[in-house]
Amino acid sequence: MSRITSIEEYHKEYKRSVENPEAFWAEQAEQFVWKKKWDKVLDWNFNEPDIKWFVGGKLNITENCLDRHLSERGNQTAIIWEPNNPNESGRKISYKELHSEVCRFSNVLKNNGAKKGDRICIYMPMIPELAIAVLACARIGAIHSVVFGGFSFQSLSDRIHDADCNIVITADGGFRGAKDIALKSVVDEALKTCPSVKKVIVTKRTNCEVIMQNERDVWWHDEIKKVTDDCSPEMMDSEDKLFILYTSGSTGKPKGVVHTCGGYMVYTQYTFENVFQYKKGEIYWCTADIGWITGHSYLVYGPLLSGGTTLMFEGIPTFPDAGRFWQVIDKHQVNIFYTAPTAIRSLEALGLDFVKPYKLNSLRVLGSVGEPINEEAWHWYDENIGKKKCPIADTWWQTETGGIMISPLAGITKTIPGFATLPLPGIQPVLLDEKGNELVGNSVEGRLCMKFPWPGIIRTTYNNHARCYDAYFSQFKGYYFTGDGCRRDENGYYRITGRVDDVIKVSGHLLGTAEVENAINQHPDVVESAVVGFPHDIKGWGIYAYVILEHERKDTDELKKEIIASVNKYMGAIAKPDKIQIVSGLPKTRSGKIMRRILRKVAEGDFSNLGDTSTLLDPAVVEEIKAGAI
Ligand code: WT7
Repeated sequence: MSRITSIEEYHKEYKRSVENPEAFWAEQAEQFVWKKKWDKVLDWNFNEPDIKWFVGGKLNITENCLDRHLSERGNQTAIIWEPNNPNESGRKISYKELHSEVCRFSNVLKNNGAKKGDRICIYMPMIPELAIAVLACARIGAIHSVVFGGFSFQSLSDRIHDADCNIVITADGGFRGAKDIALKSVVDEALKTCPSVKKVIVTKRTNCEVIMQNERDVWWHDEIKKVTDDCSPEMMDSEDKLFILYTSGSTGKPKGVVHTCGGYMVYTQYTFENVFQYKKGEIYWCTADIGWITGHSYLVYGPLLSGGTTLMFEGIPTFPDAGRFWQVIDKHQVNIFYTAPTAIRSLEALGLDFVKPYKLNSLRVLGSVGEPINEEAWHWYDENIGKKKCPIADTWWQTETGGIMISPLAGITKTIPGFATLPLPGIQPVLLDEKGNELVGNSVEGRLCMKFPWPGIIRTTYNNHARCYDAYFSQFKGYYFTGDGCRRDENGYYRITGRVDDVIKVSGHLLGTAEVENAINQHPDVVESAVVGFPHDIKGWGIYAYVILEHERKDTDELKKEIIASVNKYMGAIAKPDKIQIVSGLPKTRSGKIMRRILRKVAEGDFSNLGDTSTLLDPAVVEEIKAGAI
């Protein structure tokens, strides 16, 4: 694995990676343990799409995360676990212990009928057992599908259905700030409509009361007593599926993004080490939940592949108070801290008194991910957390890209607030105009696409390959389309300008407007709805819902509460509408298409310049909508 140490070297490596990608990536892949080396580095075709990396190679990613580190750093801490409540003692798990626990749980899975290729759903709080469950699936060749613990039973059920899972791993409950979340009861509700699930393995966390269903439900602590820690890793093909992770799109239900074993492994470690410039022995903390791709790639796989020490935090940034992140950094002497702009903005809003008690002098590198970071938040992060001594890596990437794509290399690439800066070696971004022409040169703005594959690229959407093509490869033939708008400045630096499709980034979480509309429409009094985003100081984007009712309701406040409850039930609290406006109609074209452009403008409070409304079926609704805007 080549470690870039200067900007000159970056430019040299970049050039080499573009001129001869196969040689470049083969070199990065050499250092891993392969049971059988690949026959060919790359086979690809974006028109299907059909993408294969390290073709014919055999490996197991957990052997590379765990076994290969044992001789050199068996006693080093692999995972530091910091509980929700600062008064509870946490855990430090060495590589040796983690290896042993993963092997034991792998045997538990096998005893409960799991085998290579099965899909296993994981719905857990941020406790070590979650990381262990993920790695155990990978060890036996089962495909993990982690569902964020904040999703509702309906979202969970949809995901279990789509992936046709036969096992669910969960906990009795989870702690998040001052709240307890009854996870097992959500699973019970979800499974009423999921006959494919034969086993539920439950770990104890909150000791809340749970109902265990005979035959189906077993306790983690009972099962673990029945097994040894001897479990050799299943031999996997490079292109065998490693995991499924659901992400929202502009239409329909969430898509199961599929990543495979070989390419994902090579890509996550390469990017982890180069972006963060991770040095052996450093303490690294990514605040993302493992339920998102950031948690998969840069809390679990990347750091463990590098033999690093990764911190896992169960709680939230504001419990017991808004100084918790900084307290944890001092307590564990964190060197690298990776979080989201929405967290930075919310902590900034609560004031510096929560930062002042802490030294934060262990920090060396800061990272940002999930949405564009505004300049104000960037400077606050730089001045108050990094004390102007820590480079900030504004990392742009996606669930579908597997790993970081455009980002500064910490301390090497000159940063500019708001810019993700330059593509990593191996990444070939292009900006296209509406017609799909490449915008060459600098000082241009267009749709961000990729013209060449990288090892971490999405391979398919589970059980529906056509959807993968439609969503990412159909708009611009021969390119992977990201869904983002982007500007390349006069120096060739990239600045992401935001989504150009019908998805909204709310607190860094991607939500499909169609999905939220569907959840709202489940309310019996709702005939139709249209959801758009509006700029929000803390969340980045908020959710604005226009709702048409079956019949008038005088108790508007009550109605709005019910609509929010419906969204909670069908999606989860993260999709809660911030504003709900009752309307009698929506601005539709004669062909029935909702003109979201108008709805977005009104939601933003910008009533000027609504553009041409003459093609609308009923231009009068626009006046009504403007008059009732919130
Ligand atoms: C979308 C992907 C990246 C892992 C977590 C989110 C937005 C992400 C940045 C950034 C500007 C960003 C994009 C992207 N995004 N990082 N540094 N600057 N925008 O993964 O949920 O799949 O979302 O997040 O819009 O397409 P995701």
